[in-house]
Amino acid sequence: MRLPPARGPLTAGIFAQLGGPPRELEPPLTTPPPAWALDDGDLQLALFACYELHYRGFDDVDDHWEWQPSLLAARRKLEHCLESALAFAVPRPPAVPPQQVRHALAGLVAEEEASGPSLAAHLQREADLERFREFVVHRSIYHLKEADPHTWAIPRLHGGPKAALVEIQADEYGGGRAERMHAELFRTTMTGLGLDDSYGAYLSRVPGITLAVSNVMSLFGLHRRLRGALAGHLAALEMTSSLPNRRYALALRHLGGDAATTRFYEEHVQADAVHEQVAAHDLCAGLAAQEPALSGDILYGAACALAVERRWAEHVMDRWQRGASSLEGHGDLAGHGSRRHALECDAIEGEVAAARPSRVPSRFPGRHAG
Ligand SMILES: [Fe+2]
Ligand SMILES: [Fe+2]
Repeated sequence: MRLPPARGPLTAGIFAQLGGPPRELEPPLTTPPPAWALDDGDLQLALFACYELHYRGFDDVDDHWEWQPSLLAARRKLEHCLESALAFAVPRPPAVPPQQVRHALAGLVAEEEASGPSLAAHLQREADLERFREFVVHRSIYHLKEADPHTWAIPRLHGGPKAALVEIQADEYGGGRAERMHAELFRTTMTGLGLDDSYGAYLSRVPGITLAVSNVMSLFGLHRRLRGALAGHLAALEMTSSLPNRRYALALRHLGGDAATTRFYEEHVQADAVHEQVAAHDLCAGLAAQEPALSGDILYGAACALAVERRWAEHVMDRWQRGASSLEGHGDLAGHGSRRHALECDAIEGEVAAARPSRVPSRFPGRHAG
């Protein structure tokens, strides 16, 4: 992946310097106010790029930049802005004793499912192939490195919570089989939909809030002080994943997706029904029992996951309801060499439209994939 085009003064200033050899960064960094920061594409892309240096990096950025002190100082300023934005947007859930953390997590999820928009239901009920492909483009920012942000917590935990996190992550990474890694399954979904499955291919096409979804995970993952929030974040993802993924799978089947293309979603129906139990009980309740002072952070991390996901879903659905794309910029989404399959899907879509139920059962509430 190469550095994407700058989106504003923050990315212009940082990216111009990342293109050269590591040296003292010359910030002046002016960050947006907390109320805007989650949606600010310039801020979120700048932070995403700083974090990406800790993942797979950029082909055109020297790896030594990863630990360049002045870049870390700049990243800290961007992170402070993100943390302020989360504090502004996400009320801290009421404190509970450690033994009630699991119950409180379930309450947060139930409250969100009762009130938030269900993008999964919308996709199953109404989406055409182009809308589904847009949805996949958004998700590619995280799913092509699925599980990596939460893996940062493994060496920061011990005992039962560590074993629980490893159990979940082992599944996410395919249990030792590369072709079963969730990120690989997602690449297959992308190619099946005629999209470019290369890492970061759509970085310049997604809005700030899509980047924020990933940045919040990286923020929690890269700071040991936020390990409680990271555990809660993962639990919220897993607890709101299984049923929406069933909807995604059904939607994609309706649109003509074959077994390989829908497998990513179908895999999560079963896997996350188990993961949510492990994450809520063994990871979060176990961590709260070990470190009672983290109970509040666990719930706050879950609340952040739900709130940012809701904001992202609201962005997508608002754009769609206005007949507009939820992505940035213009142009074909097609990946190289995959157009033929996408066109085949287009043809099938017309054939299956008549089979689409006019109303869908309401027993699958929820929002997203984990
Ligand atoms: Fe997964
Ligand atoms: Fe999972």
